[in-house]
Amino acid sequence: MTAERPGTAPDRPPAPVEGVPDRLYGRRRGHPLRARQQALLDAALPRLSLRPEQLGDPAAAFTIRPEQVWLEIGFGGGEHADALARAHPGVGLIASEVFENGICSLLSRLVPEGEEATGPGLPNLRFWTRDARHLLAALPAGALSRLYLMFPDPWPKARHSKRRFVHPATLPLVARALPSGGEWRIASDHPVYQAWVEEVMAAQALFDPALDTTERPADWFPTRYEGKAHREGRTPRYWIWRRR
Ligand SMILES: C[S@@+](CC[C@H](N)C(=O)[O-])C[C@H]1O[C@@H](n2cnc3c(N)ncnc32)[C@H](O)[C@@H]1O
Repeated sequence: MTAERPGTAPDRPPAPVEGVPDRLYGRRRGHPLRARQQALLDAALPRLSLRPEQLGDPAAAFTIRPEQVWLEIGFGGGEHADALARAHPGVGLIASEVFENGICSLLSRLVPEGEEATGPGLPNLRFWTRDARHLLAALPAGALSRLYLMFPDPWPKARHSKRRFVHPATLPLVARALPSGGEWRIASDHPVYQAWVEEVMAAQALFDPALDTTERPADWFPTRYEGKAHREGRTPRYWIWRRR
């Protein structure tokens, strides 16, 4: 058996989704975890995660009975997911990320230092720590009212375009999970990705454009990558795509 390099192990779905590459690129691990982070992964994450048996009725995964279920894909450091869940206590937010240090970062926000690692977290936030495409494929059709994809990895080289989340092969997966009128919110600061979003979305008939702006709308929260983009002189773009 070939050993995988730590942090780059491919995430192979149990049942590959047709048309979607079954490999997830990008880092899984960064710097070594501190004892507190490991304790959060061991004691808090299992309690705060969406369990496989809840995939058929994701609303049942929350301590509240949510009026809607939303998903954030690739929450990074978790500042956006944390702010979103706190601002919308009646909504159930599934926060999805595969990078272990990012998962620890959101766990640390929910169960701050000084609190037991078994602390309650937020009643309306649950984690999904595998490839979000598997989640989309497993959820009932129309299960999500809103989906956030904030500053996805741009994979700017043309030969890596298959690695981009916005991709003709992924659109049907996203569309299936949203009911008519459901929103897909996307932000990107990378010129190649911005042009790619335009190109891919111009060639599809599943979503209608509802917003395209370079000013972050008032009800969107900032993210770490957005801050980095501004510091480095790039102008983010924000879109809302509405499911037909
Ligand atoms: C460039 S970072 C942006 C993080 C954050 N949204 C922000 O704006 O600061 C993209 C993140 O998406 C995660 N990611 C990429 N593909 C994913 C997938 N299929 N499922 C879940 N997370 C994914 C990566 O691990 C990475 O942390």
